Amino acid sequence: MSANVYPVPDDIAKNALIDKSKYDAMYKQSIEDPEGFWGEHGKRIDWIKPYSTVKNVSYDANDLYIKWYEDGTLNVSANCLDRHLEKRGDQTAIIFEGDDPSVSEYITYRDLHERTCRFANALKSMGVGKGDRVVIYLPMIPEASVAMLACARIGAIHSIVFGGFSPEALAGRVEDCGAKVVITSDEGLRGGRAVPLKRNADEALSHPGVKSVEKLVVVKRTGKDVAWNDARDVWYHEACAAASPDCPPTEVNAEDPLFVLYTSGSTGKPKGVLHTSGGYLVYASMTHEYVFDYHDGDIYWCTADVGWVTGHSYIVYGPLANGATTLMFEGVPSYPDASRFWQVCEKHKVNIFYTAPTAIRALMREGESWVKKADLSSLRILGSVGEPINPEAWEWYYEHVGNRNCPIVDTWWQTETGGILISPLPGATDLKPGSATLPFFGIEPGLLDNEGNELTGATDGNLVIKDSWPGQMRTVYGDHERFIQTYFSTFANAYTTGDGARRDDDGYYWITGRVDDVINVSGHRMGTAEVESALVAHPKVAEAAVVGVPHDIKGQGIYAYVTLNADEEPTEELRVELVKWVRKEIGPIASPDYLQWSPGLPKTRSGKIMRRILRKIAANEYDQLGDTSTLADPGVVDDLIDNRQNR
Ligand code: PRX
Repeated sequence: MSANVYPVPDDIAKNALIDKSKYDAMYKQSIEDPEGFWGEHGKRIDWIKPYSTVKNVSYDANDLYIKWYEDGTLNVSANCLDRHLEKRGDQTAIIFEGDDPSVSEYITYRDLHERTCRFANALKSMGVGKGDRVVIYLPMIPEASVAMLACARIGAIHSIVFGGFSPEALAGRVEDCGAKVVITSDEGLRGGRAVPLKRNADEALSHPGVKSVEKLVVVKRTGKDVAWNDARDVWYHEACAAASPDCPPTEVNAEDPLFVLYTSGSTGKPKGVLHTSGGYLVYASMTHEYVFDYHDGDIYWCTADVGWVTGHSYIVYGPLANGATTLMFEGVPSYPDASRFWQVCEKHKVNIFYTAPTAIRALMREGESWVKKADLSSLRILGSVGEPINPEAWEWYYEHVGNRNCPIVDTWWQTETGGILISPLPGATDLKPGSATLPFFGIEPGLLDNEGNELTGATDGNLVIKDSWPGQMRTVYGDHERFIQTYFSTFANAYTTGDGARRDDDGYYWITGRVDDVINVSGHRMGTAEVESALVAHPKVAEAAVVGVPHDIKGQGIYAYVTLNADEEPTEELRVELVKWVRKEIGPIASPDYLQWSPGLPKTRSGKIMRRILRKIAANEYDQLGDTSTLADPGVVDDLIDNRQNR
């Protein structure tokens, strides 16, 4: 833990929406009287029919339900667009910064509204209605936001699949949610390289399990020739041109689904995290405003991809509900060179910049000369998300990017939580590098031992959240039992986060990482079981075990132990082939960094793989293996140590 404490700068405290005493008072009220607190703050969004009840929640695993504002009705896209038109019609809603630095576009609220209405009507003409699922497989272009808002406008449920996922991964998600329409582009552009999204989508839709898709909508991004299926494929621009710009928003219930987003868990199959409309929007917009201390006129940039939850809540829904100007970046931090992030900050006079530790570490490695090339004087607040930020990276970010006068909000949350749960507020919280600090309003964290006893004071433990908040996920799409099992059965009467944390003497939280079989690679969440299923699907592989390994840039890398079928030779070619195979099955983010041949795996006598031992060997900590006497064959351990890859 870092010993440094950075007090709230005076000028920030003076102008901030929330200062220390306000935080204390509001936090107290939010915990003592959640009904009153959320009843009041629920009014920050526009309701068609106002709610008369606020919270209706039971965390009892035998009778579990989570409902907020349940008799209220609204439309999420009207909250993000229509309600701003009078005052902000000509204000920029989205600044698009292309992969190519000479490409940028400013889209006003009025323009975004019109584009959304046209596309919403186009979707309607394809037979999409309330409750239908639409999969969005797009690069970081404005059409991705338009597609999300258009679904929200007509009550359809969107499910975004990150453009870096493979056709296999896309097919699995399309099949699971039974999408009627898929939206993609001819190609994507990242770092000057084209990504064949339409080809991937064609391949995904040709899977035998994918039966629900009626239309594939294609955005023209690069103009590359693509294969065309006349009966199924529709050009986005043609569909929008033919559609009316008038599309009244569909009234939905607060608890009607807004989106499903697939995320990795500790089993092989990603789960569809379902978020609903009212509570989610209240929570996303409120956290966006207070955590980033968003003031009217600020230029706000979150570098995430809309394929992840961060993009949903903090590029699109939170900022647009608040009438903000949100920047959408198509490219990568290293193209055309390592000063790109900072050039974009200078070009658009960014005030609030939100990124991931892995990007900071990669840019830190390139040296601060790249940062110095740009004028970063517009920056006021910096943010971090996705994984623990190591104090060295924090200090570098603070000093070289923030010039020691921009608070860093280290925001801890999850796909499941819909919005930020633990984070500093710029005007209220003294900072400690590496700590996500204190809970947001309404969030009551707890630390439990493995038996479920609550621990008090400064301690380590399993992080749980003791009561509900409006942005919480409601179910796993199509599998409510899995929702209960995953989050509410390990410990009674609390939401289990799957993370471990330490609380210090000041009550600050330090997230220590996952306590389950989920790893975090460059801020991307990956189930070890998912990579294992991909490996064993290869005809030459008998068994595989995957663990996380500390990695300087990625935070965690992927270390795979592979047992081949008896008659197979472990060759270098096969090693390369298996790494490629995983890329093809899941996507480049799942590529193993190390792949070790393991004729045997350390197993207990009941056949359970002892991952603790595999993690230690992968991390080169093989002198700290602990008790290996319960292994069925302790001899396999020596072989694994001798042949380890991460020397
Ligand atoms: O382990 C925590 C880590 O990322 C996990 C959630 O991943 P995902 O659902 O993909 O959402 C990422 C974006 C919110 C968490 O269980 N994590 C996220 N933010 C932090 C973090 N770990 C430490 N510090 C953070 N600020």
